[in-house]
Amino acid sequence: MARNDEFLYILRNANPIETVMGSYVNLIRRGRNYICSCPFHSERTPSCTVFTDTQSFYCFGCGAGGDVISFVMKAENLDFMEAVKLLAERSGLEVPDNNRRDNRSAQRKTRIYEMNRLAAKFFYHNLVKGDNKAGLQYFLNRRLTPQTIKKYGLGFASDSYHELTSMLRSNGYTDEEIVDAWLGGKSERTGKTYDLFRNRVMFPIFDLRGNIIGFGGRVLDDSKPKYLNTGKTPVFDKGSNLFSMNFAKNSDSKRLILCEGYMDVIAVNQAGFENVVATLGTAITPDQARLISHYCDEVVVSYDSDGAGRAATQKAIKHFSDVGLRTKILRMEGAKDPDEYIKKFGAPRFRNLIEGSDDANNFMLDRCEEGIDTGTEAGKVELLKRVSNVLAEIESPLEREVYISRTAQKCDISPEILKSHINDIIRKKKNSKKMEEWKSIKAKTAYVRDDINPDAVKYKKEAKAEEAIISRLLLRPDDCEMIEAEAPADIFVTEFNRRVYTAVLSAIKNSDKFTLSLLNDEFTPQEMGKISGISAENREFSVTDQALKDCADVLKKHKNSISADQGGDISEDQLRALFDSKRK
Ligand code: CTP
Ligand code: MN
Repeated sequence: MARNDEFLYILRNANPIETVMGSYVNLIRRGRNYICSCPFHSERTPSCTVFTDTQSFYCFGCGAGGDVISFVMKAENLDFMEAVKLLAERSGLEVPDNNRRDNRSAQRKTRIYEMNRLAAKFFYHNLVKGDNKAGLQYFLNRRLTPQTIKKYGLGFASDSYHELTSMLRSNGYTDEEIVDAWLGGKSERTGKTYDLFRNRVMFPIFDLRGNIIGFGGRVLDDSKPKYLNTGKTPVFDKGSNLFSMNFAKNSDSKRLILCEGYMDVIAVNQAGFENVVATLGTAITPDQARLISHYCDEVVVSYDSDGAGRAATQKAIKHFSDVGLRTKILRMEGAKDPDEYIKKFGAPRFRNLIEGSDDANNFMLDRCEEGIDTGTEAGKVELLKRVSNVLAEIESPLEREVYISRTAQKCDISPEILKSHINDIIRKKKNSKKMEEWKSIKAKTAYVRDDINPDAVKYKKEAKAEEAIISRLLLRPDDCEMIEAEAPADIFVTEFNRRVYTAVLSAIKNSDKFTLSLLNDEFTPQEMGKISGISAENREFSVTDQALKDCADVLKKHKNSISADQGGDISEDQLRALFDSKRK
């Protein structure tokens, strides 16, 4: 084995999974184990378990699971070696040389980071020192200071089809790599590679570790498209990163300001707020809401004050409430967005605006009135319907009470009636929410199963038996000889389980101390999740010696039935059927 198992063992011991996961999610002790809300999907009731004895985690909701290394891979979107390095750093260990396996996907990412950094430097230099001062003038007109321009590494891409690509080529990057990084495009007609960003001011986008993962480029006038953003690359996923999060994450504030655009973020930051971010040209995703929830308790949504902005605000409120964040809404008057507001009224007034930002509930209640005439009876009824649904979403009963009495007064209806109506809605919602959660759990587990072990659909009973055997092996590696004698790998029916079983057996035999981490090399993170699931789901009915024997019997019976089919005493009918099937 090329990998240094000894090192992985030390690494794992130095990074107990409960400690590492504890810095991402709130762990609740349950006996020897812990439970938590799954960091990988939104949920209200915790369905993720951390097992201290096997040092693994498994989410019964979405099927995510694995050891501490797979956890970090998933949580930080890293590949295996990157995760090992991060954990080594965390625990003050040095990664031994023979552990630096050549990893093609890691190398590809590194090359893109390097190209992006070179490009950003090139754009910055071009902005500040280049002959064409249009970009610099643009930013200065928008009142950005040279310090801000430097802090954000803003730049300018000239109106040229080859400047950037030539520079990258002369630094040893191939045309393929340039296209891979989304810095160049390939012409269909000539097959040549050309610069994608032309005549635009450039906003580099950093991840939390300070890598440049992509760019946004804005035109200098009113031409279209206003922004060109990096597309999907191995390092850039617009749905899971946030602009300026690299600065915001260091802010002491328990509050985060969410804006719509790059320019808003930069203007707000320049006005003295480090805790401000924006999405990357898309509506906010559950992933981004979850990321934000790791860094603060409260979000102030500061979207544009137009119709689109208000609709986006409503969606954002929903995602933040799903991850338990308090949400406030900025009420801007006299300006369309924070950038314009600060320019018009100055930073101190913007600070007041933030301090006085309104509760998300008021925003939602106000929105109920849009488009209905509350002067009419029908309008009033419609309003009450909408308002009741909003009030039913408020989780704290005390807070709900306050809003109910306020609304009752406003709508001229008795608070008791309104309250009992709302309690009705809440009861119904609870039931349907439970059913929905359960449905999505079922859907997800079914999907994970089919995907990873397709044979299990056909051989349900056999797959179950195999999983019981594997789980016994995982929980009691010391029994491996007895287990293998009872259930040799060749009686396994489903291919995936056989692969797992064989790999676990050989890992146990080839190392002093077995840990799940030893499998990380051979199995994808998704497969690791499935493996953790096998041991997690069989834990409750610990697999006794007798159960082990029974499971092995199930598999042996299956094997015998196949060999009986294929030879020996065979009836004429069976023979004909066999021929027919062969012919097809
Ligand atoms: N956006 C985009 N593509 C567009 C328009 C907008 O990706 N064609 C994204 C950008 O991330 C932009 C955000 O949506 O920052 C908000 O759009 P908008 O308010 O139009 O732009 P601002 O960044 O506010 O730019 P400016 O103030 O210069 O108009
Ligand atoms: Mn704007």
